[in-house]
Amino acid sequence: MFARLNMNEKMERLIESAAEIIAAARRIAVLTGAGVSAESGVGTFRDAQTGLWSRFDPQQLASQEGFAADPGRVWRWYMHRLEMVERARPNPGHAALAALEAMTPTFTLITQNVDDLHERAGSRNVLHLHGRIERFHCNGCGLPYTLRMEDRDAPMPPTCTFCTDYIRPSVVWFGELLPAQELAEAQRAAETCDVFLVIGTSGVVYPAAHLPVMAKRRAAPIIEVNPEESALSEMAEIWLSGPSGALLPRLVEAVRLRRAGQENPR
Ligand code: OAD
Repeated sequence: MFARLNMNEKMERLIESAAEIIAAARRIAVLTGAGVSAESGVGTFRDAQTGLWSRFDPQQLASQEGFAADPGRVWRWYMHRLEMVERARPNPGHAALAALEAMTPTFTLITQNVDDLHERAGSRNVLHLHGRIERFHCNGCGLPYTLRMEDRDAPMPPTCTFCTDYIRPSVVWFGELLPAQELAEAQRAAETCDVFLVIGTSGVVYPAAHLPVMAKRRAAPIIEVNPEESALSEMAEIWLSGPSGALLPRLVEAVRLRRAGQENPR
């Protein structure tokens, strides 16, 4: 039947099917990745031409070994990334997720992103699995650190007043453990949700990529939004193929109309 429909009609039907599932859900869990911030101008990691990891070596910039080898290079790279994130503005995809949270009894937004665009769009229950780029702590003793203006242009990271080790951004580097409490809360949300949304992630970094698997095992349907096929697309009941900034507002509006219909049945 779909063969006779044009692309737009096909997408409309898929959005309606996804909206039906979401509108019936009381507990929603969402996993976002770099793709949700792409339309805000924050680069993704693995997209072939534009992805950060096609131009930079993650081992040099996002690992303890890389930091030990050249702390200045790592510091300057993160200061540059921080400035980019601060300049970026939330896009309609971020706003749509905040709107969906406002109309859902239990909503958990699990993000792999280190930016704060979800919060700036109005999302409240956000779990940052990979840390936050605007926060800092000592690489030696873990003491939190407040960034000063002069640190931003410094060639080397500042040092800890307590133990003199270098200060680093509070993001998770390769080979490091995820924040335990965030991960536990994310796993609980995945195991108890009625539907799990996967948005703008390649789904290749674990343990984040395992969360939809946990949801699926508990029979929660998976709905994906991504212009490209990801490692998680195969397990998705519905794949909305397109950019989240364009599709999420349409999806959330369709959910809102259905919810309004549920509240005011004719
Ligand atoms: P990736 O760069 O691996 O994947 C980005 C995904 O976003 C791809 O599947 C794209 O197709 C999709 N995408 C691109 N533009 C999009 C758009 N406008 N709307 C929706 N989707 C779009 O980023 P992540 O999956 O987030 O980890 O990467 C996971 C982790 O790997 C990151 O958190 C980071 C990285 O190494 C750490 O830094 C620990």
